[in-house]
Amino acid sequence: AATANYTFTVQSMRINQLCNSTDIIAVNGQLPGPTIDVFEGDEVVVDVINRSPYNLTVHWHGIMQLLTPWADGPSMVTQCPIQPNSSYTYRFNVTGQEGTLWWHAHSSFLRATVYGPFIIRPRNGSAYPFPAPDQEVPVVLGEWWIRNAVDVEKDAVMSGQRPVRSDAYTINGLTGQLYDCANETFTAVVQPNTTVLLRVINAALNTHLFFKAAGHNFTVVAVDACYTANYTTDTLVLAPGNTVDALIFTDARPGSYYIAVQPHDTISPSTMDTSNDNSTATAILLYNGTSATTKPAMPTMPNSSDTTTANAFYFGLRGVAAEVPSPVDVNMTIELGLGQLPCDTTQTSCAGSSFAAAMNGVSFRLPTGTSLLEAQFNGNPGGVYTADFPDGVPPNGTAMVEGTKVRSLPYNSTVEIVLQNPLAFPAENHPIHLHGFNFFVLAQGLGTFTPGNTSAYNLVDPVARNTIAVPTGSWAVIRFRANNPGMWFFHCHLDAHVPMGLAMVFAVENGTTPDSMLPPPPADLPKC
Ligand code: C2O
Repeated sequence: AATANYTFTVQSMRINQLCNSTDIIAVNGQLPGPTIDVFEGDEVVVDVINRSPYNLTVHWHGIMQLLTPWADGPSMVTQCPIQPNSSYTYRFNVTGQEGTLWWHAHSSFLRATVYGPFIIRPRNGSAYPFPAPDQEVPVVLGEWWIRNAVDVEKDAVMSGQRPVRSDAYTINGLTGQLYDCANETFTAVVQPNTTVLLRVINAALNTHLFFKAAGHNFTVVAVDACYTANYTTDTLVLAPGNTVDALIFTDARPGSYYIAVQPHDTISPSTMDTSNDNSTATAILLYNGTSATTKPAMPTMPNSSDTTTANAFYFGLRGVAAEVPSPVDVNMTIELGLGQLPCDTTQTSCAGSSFAAAMNGVSFRLPTGTSLLEAQFNGNPGGVYTADFPDGVPPNGTAMVEGTKVRSLPYNSTVEIVLQNPLAFPAENHPIHLHGFNFFVLAQGLGTFTPGNTSAYNLVDPVARNTIAVPTGSWAVIRFRANNPGMWFFHCHLDAHVPMGLAMVFAVENGTTPDSMLPPPPADLPKC
C-alpha cells in the first residue's frame, strides 16, 4: 500500500454560468474539485488550506475512518473548523472498501461548491467483481444557483423555510446546452462496443435526481461503494449523498447521445413548477469517430413527481451475500420529518415558522466551543453533551426538545434502527446518512413498520449503504455493528435539515473515561 498526498487550497473563484458570473468557494480553482483516486489499503493525506472567508471542514463521505475519527470532518462533531488562513491535515486509510465515494465541505453551507469524487480501486492484483471496464467516467451531479449558494442556504435556515430551488442542475460542474446561454457541455468520448463504468455521484444539496442516457441501459454494480447484485435499469435514482457505479455497453448505433439529469421532486405538496420544467442538465456520450455536431438523441425523462420509478430503484437493489450482524441490545425508532412535532416558537429550531425537525423528539444542536469528539476524548468535562438520546418515538403530544443529546453505543454492539418517515404535510424523502460505518438495509417498505415484523428482513443479501433514501410515508430497517470508537454523525443529507435539527450523534465507546480506545488528536487539530 502507498501513501497518496493531496493539497486542497480552498478559496473564492468566479464562474460564468447561466449568463451570470457567480463567486463561489472552490478547491484548487476547480468545480468539481480534484478527484482523489487511490487503491484499497492506501493511506490518504490531504492538506487542507483555507483561504476562504468561511470556517471550513472537509468530510470524506462514506470513508469508514476506522480508528481515525479525527479525520472524519463534520464541524463541531469531530473537530472545530479550520478558520480562514489556517490549515489542517486529514490522514486516514482506505481499508476494506472499494468503489465510488466523494468528499465535501461539512461546515458553513460550503458543500454547494466544495465537493469532488473519491475513487477507491481494488488493490493491485485484485479485480473488480464484474467484467473489467475499458473506460471509466466520473459523473458528479450538482445544483447551481446564480446567487451565492451559502446565502441561499443561510436564508432558508434562518426563515425555517425550504431553500429556493436551484437555478440549474449540473453534470461535472456544467449545466449543458438545454439551458439558456449554456456554457460548455461535458462530453464523454467512448469507443464503440466497449464497457464503460460510470461513477455517478449526487452532490446536490437538496434534490433527489433521475439520471438517464439515451439509447443505453445501465447495469448497477455498486452503490455508496458497496457492491450490489447486478441490477439492470434505464433510470438511475440518486438521493443527495448517494453514489452509483453503473456499467454501460456502447453497442448502440454510433452517434451522440444525451446523458440527462433532472430533479425528482419528493416534496408534498409539490413546490415545483412543472408547467415550466426547463430543469434538465445534459452531458453527451459521443461515439468516437462520429460527428459532435449531430443533434444528440434525448432520453425520455420520468416526470419529476414519479415516485414509482424512484421507489422501484431505491427498494429494488440487492447486495452481495453477506454476514449480517445479529441484533443484540439496541433498537431505536427514529421518526423523520419536518413539522411532525409540537414546536414552541421560542425555540431557535422553529425560527419563526411552525417547522421543526427532530429525531425521536430531539432537535439536534451542535455544541459550540468544543467538538463532541474532543469532549468524548476528555471525558466530557462541563457536559458538552448529554448521553440521554431516547430510544423510540415519544408519545403524541410530547413537546420536542432541543439539545446536544448523543446515544452512547457499547463498542461492538449491534444497532438496529427503524426509520419511519410519516405521511404528513409538508413532507419529503429524507436521505439519512451515517458517518463511520456502512449499514445493511434489512427491509424497506411503504406505510408504517410493524414492530417485530422480522419476517420481512433480508438477512442473506441485503444492500449495504451509507445513505438511505426514506420516502415520505415509508420505513426502513437498518443494522450495523458499532465497531469504530468515536462520535459519529447520523443526519439527513438535505443540507438545510442539519441546522434545523434532523440529526443525532452516536458515541461509540468502551466504557472507560477517558475512552482508552480513542487515538489522541493530531497536533494540528484546529482549535475553536
Ligand atoms: Cu456527506 Cu455528514 O455528510
